[in-house]
Amino acid sequence: MERWGGMLRVLLSVPGWRGGTGGWAFSSWRHHLPPAGLSATELVNKWTAVFEKEGIPEARESSEYIVAHVLGAKTFQSLRPALWRQPLTPAQLQCIRELSGRRLQRMPVQYVLGEWDFQGLSLKMAPPVFIPRPETEELVEWVLEEVAPGPCVAEAQGGPLILEVGCGSGAISLSLLSRLPQSRAVAVDKGAAAVCLTRENAQRLRLQDRIHIVPLDVTSEGSWAHLLPWGPLDLIVSNPPYVFRQDMEQLAPEIRSYEDPAALDGGEKGMDIIERILALAPRLLKDSGSIFLEVDPRHPELVGGWLQSRPDLSLQLVAVRRDFCGRPRFLHVRRSGAPDGCPVDVQPGPPPARAPG
Ligand SMILES: C[S@@+](CC[C@H](N)C(=O)[O-])C[C@H]1O[C@@H](n2cnc3c(N)ncnc32)[C@H](O)[C@@H]1O
Repeated sequence: MERWGGMLRVLLSVPGWRGGTGGWAFSSWRHHLPPAGLSATELVNKWTAVFEKEGIPEARESSEYIVAHVLGAKTFQSLRPALWRQPLTPAQLQCIRELSGRRLQRMPVQYVLGEWDFQGLSLKMAPPVFIPRPETEELVEWVLEEVAPGPCVAEAQGGPLILEVGCGSGAISLSLLSRLPQSRAVAVDKGAAAVCLTRENAQRLRLQDRIHIVPLDVTSEGSWAHLLPWGPLDLIVSNPPYVFRQDMEQLAPEIRSYEDPAALDGGEKGMDIIERILALAPRLLKDSGSIFLEVDPRHPELVGGWLQSRPDLSLQLVAVRRDFCGRPRFLHVRRSGAPDGCPVDVQPGPPPARAPG
């Protein structure tokens, strides 16, 4: 996963991207057709050269993932060595050509393959639903650390009841449910494609009985009222759209052309949905409930200031955690007024085991 994560960090990093689209036309990949009878290793080399020539980022990794996928493996390295040298069948060659053609159109490799791993779960991916980023795995790990030692949330009968705002492919909710067998989750998203994909992934992972997936725009008037019947909640978790509007133009072509802008654009200061979640939270959370958010490194200060301007919400920013690159990216906000004796962990957890990419 770290290998995939490293690639994702490059392909989907915000802002800034390497290479250019160069007005590349889909039909031009036909000029690059490798001859029949090549082995997997030779094909990887051929397509790597084509991708490099066309300025496709992470050329070798893209090529390896595509060839491995067609041969039924997650990574090229996990293929049986015998398969590296074996000539591919015409059908396999054709499939590799088609997938590589999509990559040449700057389609993210996760969409090209149609699936991607998150927290050890294989999730179906389909444009324009947001591709889960490796940073978000750290958010999930942090939530699990906070829940596992048994503060108030873990005492909830049957495990914590979780709301995820903006579920996308379902990555956060489904990975939390897979690790918290007593938990249940409500996952909302305003995008119809996201709602469908979360449903599909829940079925694939056989977690559909513990997740309720609701099409909902949290900015719509009275949206919290739709969620009240599911509460009161122990946790709200979200990786909301948080890109500053001015940064949207600088996103990589992979992102701009294929991912739903509504999954990224957080408004002028990236705070639109963050503020909305914080404003809704007190009505939905238990007294001791927590909110965990993934944000931009500029947001801890902005969110802290915003919460101070809204004492009516009775929410406190109790911890900020850094990502594998050392940037402050994750927030733990608690509903204050927690009963005495309920431990409040204000310390960021230990640094993640993952090596910086
Ligand atoms: C950054 S993506 C996160 C997706 C997923 N949780 C993940 O981490 O891979 C943000 C998601 O929020 C959804 N979203 C954006 N605005 C929303 C709104 N007003 N109400 C509900 N969902 C919203 C988008 O459709 C998108 O799926």
